[in-house]
Amino acid sequence: MDKQYRKAIIAGNWKMNKVASDVKIFADELVPLIKGFEGCCEVVVCTPFTSLTQSLCAFSGTGVCTGAQNMSQHSSGAYTGEISGTQLKDLGVEYVIIGHSERREYYGETDNSVNLKTKAALDNALVPIVCVGETLEQRETGITYDLISMQVKAALHGFENLPNLVIAYEPVWAIGTGKTATPEDAQSVCKFIREVVAGLYCNECARATSILYGGSMNDKNAAELLSQPDIDGGLIGGASLKPDSFAIIINAANG
Ligand code: PGA
Repeated sequence: MDKQYRKAIIAGNWKMNKVASDVKIFADELVPLIKGFEGCCEVVVCTPFTSLTQSLCAFSGTGVCTGAQNMSQHSSGAYTGEISGTQLKDLGVEYVIIGHSERREYYGETDNSVNLKTKAALDNALVPIVCVGETLEQRETGITYDLISMQVKAALHGFENLPNLVIAYEPVWAIGTGKTATPEDAQSVCKFIREVVAGLYCNECARATSILYGGSMNDKNAAELLSQPDIDGGLIGGASLKPDSFAIIINAANG
């Protein structure tokens, strides 16, 4: 299967949960549960900004990477309250989630800002995890594939060559709702995303791109979702907050 050409990635999105002093306790519980994951799948924990340093310390030497959940499109300057890619890179952060649907819905992020943030992340050698996904209304009106195609193309606008990024398919109606997409539906959209990438660049580029599924992935449904040929991992919210359920998902990715 083509999966050998790309990295499996399990990324936890903690959203606005936990305080800095929780991180070491979490890491101490998680790490023994995922022994031997190195070299199989990449594990990323995307914490709030206030916990990034603690995450980098707590996971140092374990192979678990630290990611942020957002960043500014600007590199520095008078942008009160914002955090730049330079600042994240300087801390040692490796990944950053871009364009999560909660950012799009509550903070006015657009396809254009997602594109600019993706560029800013790459300029700082951070790996962007670019989120795309349709709302329930969009799914019901039958525009899922057109919308996903538009979102992927917009995120990649202006890149002559396919950059080093990860794409996460997160149907908005499945996020935090307990309603997971069926493995078939999730596979179908992830496969479609790969086709869009292939159309923009080349088949080999698309084959090497990690595409994740996100939306109520948990310790019970992860194995089946992750066994789909075009689902290379997961972006996990709720179930990434508990070391035991997150470990089960990581171990499922390692098959
Ligand atoms: P969930 O969140 O797993 O809690 O549905 C996923 C996400 O928002 O990335």
